[in-house]
Amino acid sequence: MELDYLSVDDLSPKELGELLDLAADVKARPDAYAGRLADRSVALIFEKPSTRTRVSFEVACVQLGAHPVVLSSSELQLGRGETIEDTGRVLSRYVDAIVLRTFEQERLEVLAAAADVPVVNSLSDFEHPCQALADLLTMRERLGALEGRTLTYLGDGNNVAHSLLLGGAKAGMRVRVATPVGFEPIPQVVQRAGALAVESGGAVEISNDASAAAKGADVLYTDVWASMGQEAEADERMLVFTPYQVTQALVEAAGDDVVVLHCLPAHRGQEIAAEVMDGPRSAVWDQAENRLHTQKALLLRLFSAA
Ligand code: CP
Repeated sequence: MELDYLSVDDLSPKELGELLDLAADVKARPDAYAGRLADRSVALIFEKPSTRTRVSFEVACVQLGAHPVVLSSSELQLGRGETIEDTGRVLSRYVDAIVLRTFEQERLEVLAAAADVPVVNSLSDFEHPCQALADLLTMRERLGALEGRTLTYLGDGNNVAHSLLLGGAKAGMRVRVATPVGFEPIPQVVQRAGALAVESGGAVEISNDASAAAKGADVLYTDVWASMGQEAEADERMLVFTPYQVTQALVEAAGDDVVVLHCLPAHRGQEIAAEVMDGPRSAVWDQAENRLHTQKALLLRLFSAA
């Protein structure tokens, strides 16, 4: 496994499977891993708001015996113009890993190149690879083996969609993404996911037809229509995205045992109907919990402690 986790594509399909196996064991036997990262420190830098990622990473560190140092950019000299490279060089002298939530993926790549310790992407505009680990673990818990299963993502072809395309394709899934015209995932990611699917026996299907994409799906997944930083576009997006809402009708058109996922925070009545979000097919709370277990597994692997 590479020392940084900036993209789901930093894990081979084998490494991804092993990491999910470890996460399942960490979840089943948390005491067996307590203290494995004693004397380690992890910087958790958030340049965007967060509930799940911030709290789950902080708790993950504590449960493993590591010391989390949680920082916002306004608390750092980053907020006054110090470069991300210099920040990485300095933090490398104090901590054993750096987790960064930021805007551009390039900022993570620059940080990783300058830092002497592992760097983890805890969300950029391009990918959300930690979220994808929790998503895949939740799907495995509900469905068993993922090969040949159909994962349908409806809505914005955003960072979450990118990580699901790569992760689902690596896991041998048929990944369908249906978005409004002009909001498709970027071609570079679709191309890479397609190549991974050829190797894994999965498939990648991009369309603008929510009904067709939902038909027979094993998993229906959605995310907010206006991501952080896109709030000014929210009203305009609402009009374009309304046909992509995960409704009860789409749930009924999917497979009998369909699992509904949402990375959260959710907007009931927008990207997901309230009756679906709070209904019997929803696994969103298990999915949110799994952020903790998968990130513990990720930290253990980054430090070769499991
Ligand atoms: N899903 C997710 O990343 O949630 P937060 O933005 O609250 O961390």
